Parts: sequence; C-alpha cells; structure tokens
Amino acid sequence: MSLKKKRQKKKNPVNLLPIRQIGDKILRQKAEPVNEITEEIIEFIQDLLFTMYETDGVGLAAPQVGRSQRIFIVDIEFNDSGERDPIVFINPVITESDGVFSQQEGCLSLPGVFETVKRSKRIAITGLDINGEPISFEASEFAAAVIQHEYDHLNGILFTDRLSKLKLIPLKKKLKELASSTDENGNNLRQDD
Ligand code: NI
Repeated sequence: MSLKKKRQKKKNPVNLLPIRQIGDKILRQKAEPVNEITEEIIEFIQDLLFTMYETDGVGLAAPQVGRSQRIFIVDIEFNDSGERDPIVFINPVITESDGVFSQQEGCLSLPGVFETVKRSKRIAITGLDINGEPISFEASEFAAAVIQHEYDHLNGILFTDRLSKLKLIPLKKKLKELASSTDENGNNLRQDD
C-alpha cells in the first residue's frame, strides 16, 4: 500500500509534504548540491517551511520529504522575540566546531524515538539563503545541535547513528518496528494507514 501521492501542480497554495521515515533509503543518501535556485525550489522551500510548522518541528531537511538536495530549514528562535524566524540553508557547510554539548533529540523521521545526543557545543556554518545570497552563522548549544542534526540529514546520518551502543540497545526494537513499517522506497506498509 502506498501513501505516496503525486504532487499536484498548484501554483500558490503551500503543500503539506509527507515525512519519510527510517527504512526509506532516501534518508541514507548523501544529498546533491543545489545548482540553481529556481522558482520551483523556492516553492519547494515554502512547502518545507509549512510542513515544519504543521508538524511542530524545529528543523526539517529536504531528504526527509523525499528530495535528495542540500537544503534544510531551522526555526530555533535565536532571539527571545517569540516570533517565527526561520533560516533557510542551501548548500550549507559547517566550517568550525568545538566543545561538547548534550541534549535530548528527536526526529520527525523517527517518531517516538528520543535520546540524548552528544554534539559540538559551538559551530560556524555558511551557505546560501533562499535568494542565493551567502549567509554565515555562529550557533551554540541548542541552536548548534539543531543545525548539526539537520546537516547530518544531508549526509544520510540519523541522530541514532550518533548514540553509543549502550544507548542504542533499548531503542533497537522501536527502530526495527519503524523501519519495517516503511519499505526502502518510502511506501508505508502499515495496515492501519
Ligand atoms: Ni531529523
């Protein structure tokens, strides 16, 4: 049974994109660089933003919605303004990282799985924004962890890959269940869906 729907060619309304789950091989591929920021890519990014907010994510990477390109978005509220302030990264590169920071992570592609992940405490990242302008950010702690998590998605890495064997053991059953409910092409195999 397939949940994959052909995207309709609609110009304006944004689309809620289906989230790919562990077991889908696209989550394990190294994503391709974006060569040109076309109108179609801009529309895709708008869908990606809409999907992130609808699913209450703080970040979302293109491979998670079935598109193997080096694009991710985060909304980590650098300021205390409380306003939505998403950042779009196209062809990002983490140029510096140091320190150690641990916090609990989850992932829309691994529903129900949470564990503490050790990452760099501070990072510097460069890339292009949605207008193709170069951007660079420095981030620390929570924001740095979110960025590293999303960046990993562009290289086929899931947060559970970063766990020690000891932490992974109690999650194995859940991960296996999730992986077996999706075939490698992203089709949902669950009867109830
Ligand atoms: Ni994730």
